[in-house]
Amino acid sequence: MAQSNDLIIRIGGEGGEGVISSGDMIAQAAARSGLEVLTFKTFPAEIRGGYAMYQTRFSHEPILSEGTGFDVACCFNQEALDMNRKALRQGNVLIYDFPGGDIAGEQNIPGIHCYPVPMTKISKEELATPRSKNMVALGAIAELFSISMTSLKETVQEKFGKKGAEVVEVNYKALDAGAQHVRTNIKKADPYQMDPGTPKQDVIIISGNEAVGLGALLAGVRFFSAYPITPATEVAIFLARHLPKFGGNLVQAEDEIASLANVIGASYGGVKAMTSTSGPGLSLMQELIGMASMMEVPVVICDVQRGGPSTGLPTKHEQSDLFLAAHGCHGDASKVVVSPEGVEDCVYLTVEAFNIAERYQLPVLILSDGSLGFRTSSMRKPDPKKIRVENRATVSGNGEGFERYALTASGVSPMAIPGTPGCAYISTGLEHAPSSAPRYSAENHTAMLDKRFGKLKDLEDYFPATEVDHQEGAQLGVIAWGSTIGTLREAVKIARAEGAKVSALYPKLVWPLPVKALNAFGAKYKKVLVPEINKQGQLAKLIQGETEIRPISYTIYGGLPFSPRQIADKIKEVLK
Ligand code: COA
Repeated sequence: MAQSNDLIIRIGGEGGEGVISSGDMIAQAAARSGLEVLTFKTFPAEIRGGYAMYQTRFSHEPILSEGTGFDVACCFNQEALDMNRKALRQGNVLIYDFPGGDIAGEQNIPGIHCYPVPMTKISKEELATPRSKNMVALGAIAELFSISMTSLKETVQEKFGKKGAEVVEVNYKALDAGAQHVRTNIKKADPYQMDPGTPKQDVIIISGNEAVGLGALLAGVRFFSAYPITPATEVAIFLARHLPKFGGNLVQAEDEIASLANVIGASYGGVKAMTSTSGPGLSLMQELIGMASMMEVPVVICDVQRGGPSTGLPTKHEQSDLFLAAHGCHGDASKVVVSPEGVEDCVYLTVEAFNIAERYQLPVLILSDGSLGFRTSSMRKPDPKKIRVENRATVSGNGEGFERYALTASGVSPMAIPGTPGCAYISTGLEHAPSSAPRYSAENHTAMLDKRFGKLKDLEDYFPATEVDHQEGAQLGVIAWGSTIGTLREAVKIARAEGAKVSALYPKLVWPLPVKALNAFGAKYKKVLVPEINKQGQLAKLIQGETEIRPISYTIYGGLPFSPRQIADKIKEVLK
């Protein structure tokens, strides 16, 4: 049988049935055995009930996005079958819980390879526990598509070990029973088969949220404070586990306002500090973001965006906090917003966020999103020796002539860490003179605002993270941000393969906009398209306001990311 180069397996069922665990485990197992993986999950905001879905894409090549559609659907119940039936394409595989589960009857869908696996029945009757039906399904999937059973069993031990040896044992049996069912009862006729590859020593598999935590550790974070909120909580969980090993502290605060206040205090005290949140929490933080900007205190805020406004769609994907991140504070608050495209980027861009915060002494926001935060992906182990870490300019000595907010040529004034002899100063949200004493005169406010914004004048050169993929003869340029970049990279490949001439720009700095790079890009193409996942076309509007480009906005806002196919089709439509 021919090997597949790219395979997408989707598992669907009810929240509480173990869909998420089984997806996590299959992704972990495949990555350990040597495959590249990238996952996407979506589940209800409720703890039990509702449709939960976990999709894993496997390949021997680096993977940039969730992909388009799926090849294999494994449905734990009737609802999952109903949800996915329409999306099945010719040649796909449907694995479903039958007989014995709640799926009404045997499936015989023309053009689809339908494999019934009695997951519930095996789990209840052979293993005496309905809990393990997800592992019966995994065993069947492993057998059908050559996912390493040894690696799967290792992940079972890791995932369920804390629940006791009995739980591990019954789940091993469930995996074996699923595989055995396939060997005995299913005649494989589908074209999908993955060569598991060779395990790579230098590869880790982590989520986007964990990668932000890892980046923070590499940058030297020593204080973290946050209030739990979906989909950002995992950043805090990761740092709670690892920050103490580096001598750092973590405080779970009573709310997001207190979290950022703690972070500002810690950074004022001289340590690198960070918080993470999602839309509703970012709304609450606005007053304090303005304060950090006014106080010129370096802080890093990771916003893992979700559907809004208000509590909105807590577990669904959206890129709709860009306006809030760029323009949320009252008054004129200088700050920087960066946005990573993938899991590996979450590591390195978080380091850069700290570097920018420290260098320019201001708040830096990292705009991740639900799809990226929850995404698990394989990546090369970062080498700390290759990572450049910048620290804030500080004063030492006896403090003679020290002015905390001195008007310097660069606009950056060295900070004094509290306790530095002779360097006491006042730091509040009030406008201040160079000395730090409150001062409200017209000349002073003008000079200080110019200082706080002027210090960013070389930002685009300092952080030139704006990659251009130019194609000779292209009439169309496409610009995406955040996790849509990975999807656009694939869409560009598809569109070019289908004859389109198209270029793309992938900016990681999304506020202030990299105006020089954008204008240079815009000048080359007749049309510029901006696909993004929000109603208002937020990046397109910022580009329209700040540059010479008059973009065509392309938005979706249904709680899901774009597929590469969707963007490729739009590229072709705009080029017509
Ligand atoms: N044997 C033993 N235990 C198993 C198992 C098996 N074969 N399969 C799963 N489990 C356990 C899991 O370990 C997990 O237990 P834990 O909570 O102790 O870790 C539990 O069963 C749930 O399984 P899991 O796979 O993690 O989730 P699920 O697919 O059943 O879906 C969620 C449940 C994740 C959708 C739901 O619980 C949830 O968290 N919803 C989101 C809530 C939220 O964030 N709301 C927003 C608030 S603003």
